[in-house]
Amino acid sequence: MSRYWSKVVDGLTPYVPGEQPKLPNLVKLNTNESPYGPSPRALAALRAEVDDTLRLYPDPSCDSLRASIAAFYKLKPAQVFVGNGSDEVLAHAFLALLKHDEPLLFPDISYSFYPVYCGLYGIEYRQVPLTASFEIRVDDYFAPNGGIIFPNPNAPTGRPLALAEIERLLRANAGTVVVVDEDYVDFGAESAVGLVERYPQLLVVHTLSKSRALAGLRVGYALGDTGLIEALHRVKDSFNSYPLGRLAIAGAAAAIEDRAHFEQICAKVIATRARLASDLAALGFEVLPSAANFVFARHDPHSGAELAARLRERGIIVRHFNNPPRIEPFLRITVGTDAQCQTLIAALKSILA
Ligand SMILES: Cc1ncc(COP(=O)(O)O)c(C=O)c1O
Repeated sequence: MSRYWSKVVDGLTPYVPGEQPKLPNLVKLNTNESPYGPSPRALAALRAEVDDTLRLYPDPSCDSLRASIAAFYKLKPAQVFVGNGSDEVLAHAFLALLKHDEPLLFPDISYSFYPVYCGLYGIEYRQVPLTASFEIRVDDYFAPNGGIIFPNPNAPTGRPLALAEIERLLRANAGTVVVVDEDYVDFGAESAVGLVERYPQLLVVHTLSKSRALAGLRVGYALGDTGLIEALHRVKDSFNSYPLGRLAIAGAAAAIEDRAHFEQICAKVIATRARLASDLAALGFEVLPSAANFVFARHDPHSGAELAARLRERGIIVRHFNNPPRIEPFLRITVGTDAQCQTLIAALKSILA
């Protein structure tokens, strides 16, 4: 601590992002990026934006991008909020919609940024344990709350929650906001976007970092009732009026409009995931059923930390979490290309031999 720090900063426990190593030639399967490049139309739009107009501020309300996203989901632009990665969208949602007198509820095994936002904004929260098979049980959320948030599919487990269960939760929980963080939904789970018109307390969050292969551009968005979206704009305009630059706005809109490229990426990742899961199972791993672009797998009685370290010695990086202790044995492995996954399987074979 420094004598110059505020009390708030002194009390923070910041999020630790997955490693972004500077070493060349690593097989990087640790932060759920796309192994395939972004839409060529997005790249062309980015290049076209590099001109003299960069001296001008971008559109603070990102109208063109919001119109593209709204058209993709058959919603109105007023039902769309965009931000600098879904992390920023989530941060604004925590402050705008999830800070109330009752505690915010989220799973005990979930995106580890949620408790960090609670720390930053002083939000009370209660972590609801997943079942023994690492599933969200909706009935466990039928309790007084100041809001509910969970990823679907969940991270880092990859397990999806059925849409009918999400609707059951929404029916039982009309009084506070339910945020469904759908960063990985395009890889095989059922999206709740279709419920937005019927449930004014539902906010669905998406990213361009995974299924649109644009983690480097930093664009995410939220879909919901205009009242929820207005709350997000109030926070955004009290924080940073221009969260997306001209390049991000143009590139993201072109990526959203290129549906064929997006569908191709998702199909390839889904096919590789099935092969990866069966290859891991053949090596004796227990692999949780995944609807995401990663798998969560353990090989009893091996420690996850040890397996991750031995993979790293072979130039392969995966993600490992210690907390809570029951996920220590697991590795979270991003679905790479078929070749990357084969390199991983060969390395695991020699480590386990
Ligand atoms: C569940 C979940 N939500 C949100 C994010 C943030 O993604 P981004 O800020 O790149 O949109 C991640 C990143 O991996 C995630 O796993």
